[in-house]
Amino acid sequence: MKFFIDTANLDEIQQAAEMGILDGVTTNPSLMAKEKGSFKEILAEICKIVPGSVSAEVVSMDAEGMIKEGKELAKIADNITIKIPTILEGLKAIKSLTAEGIETNATLVFSPMQGLMVAKAGATYASPFVGRLDDISHNGMHLIEQLVVIYENYNLPTQVLVASVRSTQHVVQSALMGAHVCTIPFKVLSQLIKHPLTDSGLEKFLADWKKVNKG
Ligand code: E4P
Repeated sequence: MKFFIDTANLDEIQQAAEMGILDGVTTNPSLMAKEKGSFKEILAEICKIVPGSVSAEVVSMDAEGMIKEGKELAKIADNITIKIPTILEGLKAIKSLTAEGIETNATLVFSPMQGLMVAKAGATYASPFVGRLDDISHNGMHLIEQLVVIYENYNLPTQVLVASVRSTQHVVQSALMGAHVCTIPFKVLSQLIKHPLTDSGLEKFLADWKKVNKG
């Protein structure tokens, strides 16, 4: 499973890149709004730090506008992926950008049929938002299970990109279900390597090492 980081913060992206496990980045307008500076410059910086897919979201509501924005954003760097909303106009934009060889990420996927439709349109990634489904008392991870099966049933190349991740358990379940990608907030990404038994075990080893005759 690929690990993307879900942030537009350069410091967090740099720290995650240094962990040696980072495969890509996802941004959205809300994440961009937290950062200072021009969003295009931020995207260019992110693309320099991370060679993998970097999602940049369009904000037009019609296909023509989405395609125009997408082509502009794609000029920033070779690894930009265009994030398109999962609406009817978005399907048209995904089809057109895919035909031009530009990677797309269908965002705000909340149902299996939305996932199938964006895959049929040719999306490189489909982003189901698990946390936001959990928030309204639905089972977000159930959608991941369904999409993995649907894409496998029809050999669709679209990758399930688990989004709106809120906990390490979302990441564990994503890996068990065979999701292709999980985009993870920095805090959750940092927690994935931690275990209290590793910490206490290490403390004991270091204490015992002091008793070893090193001569
Ligand atoms: C990433 O692609 C999504 O935009 C992001 O994971 C949404 O997360 P949120 O539901 O915590 O805003």
